Amino acid sequence: MTNHVRPLVVGNWKMNLDFVEAVHLGQQIGVILKNRPAEHTDVVIAPPFVDLRSVASIIASERMLIALGAQHVNAQENGAHTGEVSLSMLRRLNVDWVLVGHSERRTNYSMSDELVKLTLRTVATSGMKAVLCVGEESGVREEGRHLDFVAEQLRHAIEGLDEKSRSAVTVAYEPLWAIGSGTSATVEQIAEMTSHVKAILRSESMAESRVLYGGSVTADNATSIITDGGVDGFLVGGASLKAESFVAIVHACNGCYAGKR
Ligand code: 13P
Repeated sequence: MTNHVRPLVVGNWKMNLDFVEAVHLGQQIGVILKNRPAEHTDVVIAPPFVDLRSVASIIASERMLIALGAQHVNAQENGAHTGEVSLSMLRRLNVDWVLVGHSERRTNYSMSDELVKLTLRTVATSGMKAVLCVGEESGVREEGRHLDFVAEQLRHAIEGLDEKSRSAVTVAYEPLWAIGSGTSATVEQIAEMTSHVKAILRSESMAESRVLYGGSVTADNATSIITDGGVDGFLVGGASLKAESFVAIVHACNGCYAGKR
């Protein structure tokens, strides 16, 4: 099956790679993509905060067709928020994308639905692009509540956003049980959730928003998921830490894009 939406692949490096290692990986990705461009796919890398400046310099000096993302941002503009980083700080570093509400922030750092909503608003109203992460724990799926759960997370996060800001939002479905587990959700599970999320987005005047999948995506399973899972791309963790596997995922998406013909 071919895909008519321009795909997007986001590499979430999580808390990996110091700035020297980050520059190295950024350069490797740039070299491979220069030799074998993926002109129909948007590519974003999201390194740790402390690597952003170095990676931004590499992207600019090598003229890479890669956008820079951050893994998190504080919902406030400035002030007494020890350890946090604001949107204007990120903007100065040429960051265009921000992950909002990643499950590791929700689960390990108490990011509530309300804070996800506030943060999404901060990003989406600023002219930057947001990847809103949603997804259920295994227990929720076992109880058969995964569709309702994700719908609630999504609706809550976008509530009150104006139409222009909504167009800045990409949704990433990342079931918690698939993240870092080595076993992705099945193509059928991904297809079910993707069509559910897309139906909600259509009803919320967000038909143009892309829907990504994340959770143990690899170079081996990317083609079948993008072909039959109905997704518009991926949010990649572990496999984004090696240039070859990350770019292979980018190329899997690129090959499925029908608009190129
Ligand atoms: P893995 O690809 O390592 O499972 O991580 C997924 C993820 O959480 C990306 O944000």
